[in-house]
Amino acid sequence: MSADRFYSGSPSATWDTEELREEFPILSREAYGKPLVYLDNAASAQKPLAVIDAMKNAMEHSYANVHRGLHLLSNEATSAYEAARQTAAAFLNAGSPDEIIFTSGGTDAVNLVAYAMGVSEIGEGDEIILSVMEHHSNIVPWHFLRERKGAVLKWLDVSDDGEIDLEAYRALFTAKTKLVAVTHMSNVLGAATPAKEMTRIAHEHGAKIFFDGCQGAVHGKVDVADIGCDFYAMTGHKLYGPTGVGVLYGRTGALKSLPPFKGGGEMIDQVTMENVTYNDPPHRFEAGTPPILEAIGLGAALQWMQEKGVDAIAFHEAGLRAHALEDMAKLNFVRVYGRAHGKAPIIAFNVEGAHPHDVSAILDRTGVAVRAGHHCAQPLMKRLGVSATARASFAAYNTHEDVEALIRGLHKTREMLS
Ligand SMILES: Cc1ncc(COP(=O)(O)O)c(C=O)c1O
Repeated sequence: MSADRFYSGSPSATWDTEELREEFPILSREAYGKPLVYLDNAASAQKPLAVIDAMKNAMEHSYANVHRGLHLLSNEATSAYEAARQTAAAFLNAGSPDEIIFTSGGTDAVNLVAYAMGVSEIGEGDEIILSVMEHHSNIVPWHFLRERKGAVLKWLDVSDDGEIDLEAYRALFTAKTKLVAVTHMSNVLGAATPAKEMTRIAHEHGAKIFFDGCQGAVHGKVDVADIGCDFYAMTGHKLYGPTGVGVLYGRTGALKSLPPFKGGGEMIDQVTMENVTYNDPPHRFEAGTPPILEAIGLGAALQWMQEKGVDAIAFHEAGLRAHALEDMAKLNFVRVYGRAHGKAPIIAFNVEGAHPHDVSAILDRTGVAVRAGHHCAQPLMKRLGVSATARASFAAYNTHEDVEALIRGLHKTREMLS
């Protein structure tokens, strides 16, 4: 799957955006007496009724703890929780639901892999390849291995647009490379990485590969079987689902050799006063009461995305991205970061002479919600030569009027700050 193919193509389904917006109750509220224009989707997406209702229904009618119970409610809750695992497996085209681990989010998924590989596979002098456009969630857990185990972090540069040079990537491998941990999509530049090619090169060198799909899974079809990766992480709340839940996909062979991350109930086989043996994956990695309601909500969100068509969402978003990039290019006081071909609708920008926090505060007063800051990507900010940017990011429910509201807001920002 090349970065371009990730986002292009014709959708298998289309929908009426106005009708789709009605499925999101929050979109009918106002901000400061103006219609809400929510463009902070890369931070967290809003939730459709399908998700709200699934969680409410579970709480009202079928709630109990999972797995342990032998009573009706526990069995119903267990079925719903395990059905969500199947939905996540189908969403990613995993080989089996046993390859799906529910975590508390994307960050938790990275920490799981880092901790477990630090115990079993990565030691003093072993090398981990990261790109400079990683989110801190996919940097700091690897720094832990550097600090605690003496692992060596090797950094892959990217172009100004967030594109990867596969030859430069290949050149980073040595006999000591144990793992590549890279994003499937930058949360700042919106560029997708060539996952299949990167996986092939990692495997040729005997290294495993982990993809941070917290953004990548939101904006295009992900097929982990086709990519061939060892691990793939995603986070529920950016996928129109709830907070507090994420997914770690692990290839069966890769999970089998991993020791547990957290200890507690459910992850064991036998516990005695002298010893402990562990459950098989995925339960080995789900210690304690899992995020039952959140997983049910995430299952509903992934089903909702599949019903709308992941490719149809990407197609709709590509129209918004093109509109926004074209209109922003006409503003000689706005600088956009990241114009990779086929990128996702995540647009980082700065307004000449203005701090991004002020830009975001003024846009907010016009009803337009964007994010400003380093976006948990300080190495990328350094690479781009900025300390912060503003970021507008679009989702399935955004409209071309939302793009126009952003452009009007940018003119207003210019008026107020010059
Ligand atoms: C690329 C990327 N990775 C990881 C994360 C962390 O996800 P979470 O905060 O849900 O754990 C984010 C969230 O902003 C992200 O954009």
